[in-house]
Amino acid sequence: MSYPSTRLRRMRRDAFSRALMRETTLLVSDLIMVAFVVEGSGKREAVPSMPGVFRLSIDELVKLAGDCVALGIPALALFPSPGQDVKTEDAREAWNPDALFQRAARAVKARYPQLGLIGDVALDPYTTHGQDGLIDAAGYVMNDPTIEALVRMALAQAEAGFDFVAPSDMMDGRIGAIRLALEQAGHVHTRILAYSAKYASGFYGPFRDAVGSAGNLGSGGKHTYQMDVGNSDEALREVELDIHEGADAVMVKPGLPYLDVVRRVKDRFGVPTFVYQVSGEYAMLKAAAQNGWLDERTVVLETLTAMKRAGADAILTYYAIDAARWLTRGE
Ligand code: PBG
Repeated sequence: MSYPSTRLRRMRRDAFSRALMRETTLLVSDLIMVAFVVEGSGKREAVPSMPGVFRLSIDELVKLAGDCVALGIPALALFPSPGQDVKTEDAREAWNPDALFQRAARAVKARYPQLGLIGDVALDPYTTHGQDGLIDAAGYVMNDPTIEALVRMALAQAEAGFDFVAPSDMMDGRIGAIRLALEQAGHVHTRILAYSAKYASGFYGPFRDAVGSAGNLGSGGKHTYQMDVGNSDEALREVELDIHEGADAVMVKPGLPYLDVVRRVKDRFGVPTFVYQVSGEYAMLKAAAQNGWLDERTVVLETLTAMKRAGADAILTYYAIDAARWLTRGE
């Protein structure tokens, strides 16, 4: 059948038939908000490379958690921005039960137990060198010693009340080690969100400013553990391993430039597949919007819908609260 019996524009003509044939609809329940926490009180420190994003003290973070709950956003992913004074070569602050990150989790869960809370498991905010793991004399990130630190870190987060621990470090074997330790400690309900296919991306720049690791990292890259931009078969191997090691959900990161990877992962494994619209993606959209070059609401909802269409079950995004408002109030 072809023209004129087939006219694809017929169904596009009116809003009602466009609505009826729409395959993918973005929902507030698809969104995960992302936030940074700092010491202090009443503090909202602007992140210069991410206009509209703030490092929040715990009291302000609890308010943001309240906004998520009020809007119906199911979960909040948290990152620490610790002071330079607690950074060490061995990152021991990461598993201190009284560290900022653990206190923040207890405060949020005490006030909003129904909000899913996701803790980042990687050493970069806590190391003097800004790498995600422990380094040897040559500066190489050592896999197995790093895993021991990550296990301690994940246990401290589970004890503080995080619902999900989310290893973002890309060490080999860390999901299995963390899963075993959680089981042995009786944390059988703590979920693991594995950053399985995390690429060595330039789009993390603004995040490294936000958590204060950029200066420490200097020109050192993360190419010896994060994935090469050119690969996607390797992403499937990473995902497969993480599922076998005990991940409850897997993630692809960054988002928009990697939607082919999201689609392959979802088609192959059919497991909960999350995607992360990272700091650089946020910064690009925000900068263009602030210059009047793009309509922010339109392009943000478009990118998030595209991620869902590609197969993502949930999306981590700094835009979650804005998007939830746009979706529910049509603002
Ligand atoms: C570090 C980590 C990074 C991000 C999340 N966890 C940065 C990195 O790998 O250097 C990036 C998030 C973003 O850019 O929004 N473990």
